[in-house]
Amino acid sequence: MRQHVNPLSINFNQIEKIPSLSEMFGDPKLNFHLDIGSAAGEFLFDLALVNTSWNYLGIEIREKLVKNAQLKVLKREIKNLYFLFGNANNIFNDVQNKFIFKNLKSISFNFPDPWFKKRHYKRRVIQPEFINMLSNKLQKGTLIFIKTDVKDLFDYMDCTILSNFRFKRIDKKDFNYSESFNPIKVKTNREKYVIVNQLDIYEMIYIKI
Ligand SMILES: C[S@@+](CC[C@H](N)C(=O)[O-])C[C@H]1O[C@@H](n2cnc3c(N)ncnc32)[C@H](O)[C@@H]1O
Repeated sequence: MRQHVNPLSINFNQIEKIPSLSEMFGDPKLNFHLDIGSAAGEFLFDLALVNTSWNYLGIEIREKLVKNAQLKVLKREIKNLYFLFGNANNIFNDVQNKFIFKNLKSISFNFPDPWFKKRHYKRRVIQPEFINMLSNKLQKGTLIFIKTDVKDLFDYMDCTILSNFRFKRIDKKDFNYSESFNPIKVKTNREKYVIVNQLDIYEMIYIKI
């Protein structure tokens, strides 16, 4: 079992300057999706190769995974995919990175680290301050997707997001996936594992209003 990385470690306070959207993508004007905790990036590779009318950015706190994924992007000359290393919370808090929110249509949090112990909850990626920051920076209509197999974590994330009055739930029944960042419902690695092991999946979509 892998050792979880503590996102609150001071190692992640120093943020590297991140490239502009036109340095990251061939066409920076395309619809833009962000996946937080992208691990080795397989999910985004699958999406980017099929949906060439979207740009995909993965943010991941394990540096080696990001380096390998980004090398793969360059080798395969994929123009609509990019990976950034760091703690997503710190990257978004940096005022110099405001430009990320331009063209951003959606964000996914797929099976984030659960941090089961109560005293570790503050290491969870979705935090009230993080959601407040997103509510200030995201454009109206931007979507947030959450997915997990841990009910307690789902409740925590759902409650944290809904405690900000600028986000509301979208009923999955009314949601048109074909126009989303994931029209063919590509699965993440953790999701495939959860399905094979017949565990429950808890998921929700929110819209910034
Ligand atoms: C359980 S894994 C899930 C990976 C993938 N999303 C999936 O569904 O298969 C959670 C990932 O989030 C990353 N992570 C945790 N906290 C993070 C943070 N604050 N910023 C960026 N990545 C983070 C972890 O290193 C890990 O790769």
